[in-house]
Amino acid sequence: MSNLNKIALQILSNGKGILAADESTATMTNRLDSVGVHSNEMNRLLFRETLFSSLSMKECIGGVILYDETIKQKTSTGKTIPEFINSTGSLTGIKVDTGAKMLAGSKQEKITEGLDGLRERLKSYYELGARFTKWRGVYSISEKYPSKLAISANAHALARYAALVQEAGMVPIIEPEVLMDGNHSASDCFNKTSEVIKKCFEELVLNNIDLKGIILKPNMILSGTNSSEKISAEEIAELTLECLKNNVPSSVPGIAFLSGGQTEIEAVENLNSINIKNNTDFIMTFSYGRALQQSALKFWSKDINNIIGTQEIFDHRAKMCSLAAQGKWSKNLENSK
Ligand code: 13P
Repeated sequence: MSNLNKIALQILSNGKGILAADESTATMTNRLDSVGVHSNEMNRLLFRETLFSSLSMKECIGGVILYDETIKQKTSTGKTIPEFINSTGSLTGIKVDTGAKMLAGSKQEKITEGLDGLRERLKSYYELGARFTKWRGVYSISEKYPSKLAISANAHALARYAALVQEAGMVPIIEPEVLMDGNHSASDCFNKTSEVIKKCFEELVLNNIDLKGIILKPNMILSGTNSSEKISAEEIAELTLECLKNNVPSSVPGIAFLSGGQTEIEAVENLNSINIKNNTDFIMTFSYGRALQQSALKFWSKDINNIIGTQEIFDHRAKMCSLAAQGKWSKNLENSK
């Protein structure tokens, strides 16, 4: 087994998943503003350290994705954040793209940037303790979009990123996120997501990526947020599995979904359903940001020194996600706090 494959499996196996705590400072500021907490370096660290020192880290969280600010911070006990995360048995990841900018040649679409100087940045992140990385391409659905240009440009960037990351001895998370926003049907989401993922793998193969040493982080197949169509968790699972089976090479060890604006309950219910029906060899788990942190953040904002209370809420969410990653979640367990 290659070292990269070992890292990927360590992150995803045994009902574990990923905590995406890699919000950029601007996004984290929005999140803190929305609950009335001042966004400064200390508060951003306090909330994140509260999560990272929760009991569920050992059992449920195989990897934590950080933002540049956090990977360079120290906990209140003096350990660096990566040392602290590693001491829980989880691995440290880092978001390395520099965000999505307007794509020249397309009026309304975005291209994710960050390739310039990436080789050097990866070296320093490895030295800081990172063993995996994340890069997110973003696509929206409308009648004309995503265009062939956006699909191709983002797949190319994702593959060049992945090649540099594997060269640096780390596992790249490949995140092509087809957004939920819009009034499209689940069938539109299925078709567009299929096209996006297919193109990503064409480029990954072209760039000689070791597919056993990556993690795919896709969206689930859902109808748009403003669509009148309502489909069940079973239908979401069937469409999602079909899309992945058709477009992801079987050598990929695992798939860790983003939550992408689903509620905490939707995100576990749908993941659970995917695992009950999973007829592939892929591990199917979570790499959630909002669906792991939302309730904990809301609670914490009422008293930022209530560490234990905040951790209890986070632990419950992490446990529910881990059960869903094994197809063992139920509404009863959800309410059994
Ligand atoms: P959400 O689960 O909140 O969508 O965040 C995951 C993520 O990493 C988005 O890039």
